[in-house]
Order: sequence, then structure tokens, then C-alpha cells
Amino acid sequence: MSVAETKVYKTSLINNRRYLGNKYKLLPFITKVVNDECSDIETVADIFAGTGAVSSAFTDKIIITNDLMYSNYICNYAWFGAEEYNPQTIIDFVVRYNAATECGDNYMTENFADTYFSREDCSKIGFIREDIEENYKNGTINNRERAILITSLLYAMDKIAVTCGHYDAYRKGADFEASLELYVPLAEVNNNPSNQCFNEDANELVKRIEADLVYIDPPYNSRQYCDAYHLLENVARWEKPEVFGVAKKMDRSGMKSKYCTMSATKAFEALIGDIKAKYIMLSYNNMAEKGNCRSNAKITDEDIIRILSKKGTVKVFEESYKAFTTGKSDIAENAERLFLCTCFNED
Ligand SMILES: C[S@@+](CC[C@H](N)C(=O)[O-])C[C@H]1O[C@@H](n2cnc3c(N)ncnc32)[C@H](O)[C@@H]1O
Repeated sequence: MSVAETKVYKTSLINNRRYLGNKYKLLPFITKVVNDECSDIETVADIFAGTGAVSSAFTDKIIITNDLMYSNYICNYAWFGAEEYNPQTIIDFVVRYNAATECGDNYMTENFADTYFSREDCSKIGFIREDIEENYKNGTINNRERAILITSLLYAMDKIAVTCGHYDAYRKGADFEASLELYVPLAEVNNNPSNQCFNEDANELVKRIEADLVYIDPPYNSRQYCDAYHLLENVARWEKPEVFGVAKKMDRSGMKSKYCTMSATKAFEALIGDIKAKYIMLSYNNMAEKGNCRSNAKITDEDIIRILSKKGTVKVFEESYKAFTTGKSDIAENAERLFLCTCFNED
């Protein structure tokens, strides 16, 4: 048996990570509404893409993804990027990274040792991230391979971090039970060559793109994603900024979303006004007035209907699901809603 054949590695899929507001479980509901209500869809734009879960249901179409966070852009580019990659290259790097020991001190050990990860895992994370960048800069891997390897690292970090899935705090004194293990993401080699991935404010992007279906899944409460996922963002960007406070967050000004603030309704109205599409589909949680204050939805149902009705004919679809807040208030039954707007023909 050759050395290559004895190498063992595990694989991962797009949904093998935790992410607030991830719609993976709602895909049957979302695709049913699209199949029943929309016709002639060739291009789907997922402009608040997060993990890219919703885009993963439309791989027979041209996909446009976008997210304000670079870490999500990287994962979206890994899964849906138009550039080809060599799967064997990814396997070789993953196997090598998993075998690495004594990786030395680096930005991660200096700032995060024994916080979200053990010192040893921090050392490994820092070493791997640096190595990916060096191999990209010297031309050994292409942009898509870089994105796939960073995605593999982010998913591996997410699996072992001693948090409840986000990085507002780490569990002090918690045991570091699992150690870092990278999996090979099973990303399609030949995605649609017209796919595009963006990393910008959705309100700016919609001024330049057109799609048959634009799917909108903005944050619905005051919880900023750049706060919850600062550490994944930090490692994805790898600019090695200074970090502050107990949670060891970097400066996140410029990464904040208007959809988590009092200006959410205004931003939503401008967004809808600028969209060029046949259909607009919006996911928006109806936690308003039910959960704790921080969970309250920023845009009211009345405003959503008013704004979408100016653009086209609106229908609302509901599916019940069980919702939990991260605090004490468990809310037994909640409805996930999809607002579908069939846009007036503007020709
Ligand atoms: C509810 S999550 C989307 C979840 C996604 N549908 C999934 O299944 O993983 C909202 C996303 O919107 C992004 N976001 C917030 N404000 C944005 C903006 N102005 N433009 C683009 N993306 C934004 C956040 O970074 C976050 O990933």
C-alpha cells in the first residue's frame, strides 16, 4: 500500500457548522415556496448569505452570494466559487496540517492561548493560517484552494471552541476536550462559471446586480454578527489586529450592520427600492415583543408589507418551528415566515 493510500482524513459539508440564523433546516420550506410560486428562475442572489446554506439549494442555477463578513465570503467562495481547484491539493494540505506538531508561538498563542482554545490548538491554528497565506502568495495554491483551506480551518475551530457557538465569551476553566482536526470540505470542483461571490453591504451590491430571485435574510435583532463571530473573522482576515477585553475582540467599526440598529427599516426600504429582480423572498423572524429586549425584531411586519407592496404583489408563507433564545426565555412555538414579492414589471 502506498503512503498516500494510508492517509486518513474526514470530510465536511456546508452545514457542518453552527451559525446564528442558519437556514439549512428550512431548505425544504424555502425550495417548496420557490418551486410552487416562482417560474423561470435562472439566477439566484443570496445577498445576506451567511453560511451559504440557502444557495446550496440552488446549485442548478447561477448563484450570486454576498455577506458583509469576510469569513462568510471566504466560505461562500469555497463552496460556490467559479474557479476550479484540485481536490488532491486540499487533501494533501489537510493531512499535513493534521499531522503538524510543535507549531511554535504566533499571533494566536500570544492573544488567545487557553481562552476559546488550548495553547496547543492556538499554536496550530496560527501556524496553519500563516502557512495557507504563504502558499497562496508563492503560487502553490490558487484563490479557491486558499478559500477551501481557510473554510476547513474555520469549521475545525468552530467544532472545538469552548463557547456556545459564538465568541461573546469563552467558558473560563473549561476543559479543552477535543483538539483541532481539519476536515476536507466536499466542495464541487466545477461550479457554474457564472457564479459570483461578493463581500460588501447588500444595499450597495443590489445597485449593480440583477437576478431572477433575490433572497434576503438580514439579521433581525440587535445582535451584530461581527461581535458574535469576531474570532472567525479575525482568523479569516489574518490582519493580526490588537484585541481587547475579556472576549478578546478586535476593533469592529466598519463591520457593523445597519439591520441590527434603529435604522433597519430605512435600510430595508432603500434595499428593496434598488433591487432588480422578478421575485424577492425575505426571511424575517417574528420574535418582536415576545423574547427579551435584545431579541426583538427591528422591522415590524407592517413596515415589511408596506415596503414590499410598493415593489410588487406580496404573499406570506409560514412554517412552525421551535425557537430558543440563548437566555432563559424559551419560546415554545414560533413561526418562520417567508415573504414573497412578485415584482411589478418595471419595463
Ligand atoms: C440571518 S444571517 C444569514 C443566514 C444565512 N441565510 C444562512 O443560512 O446561513 C444574516 C447575515 O447577514 C449578514 N449581514 C448583515 N448585514 C449585512 C449587510 N448590510 N450586507 C450584507 N450582509 C449583511 C451577516 O453577516 C449574517 O451573516
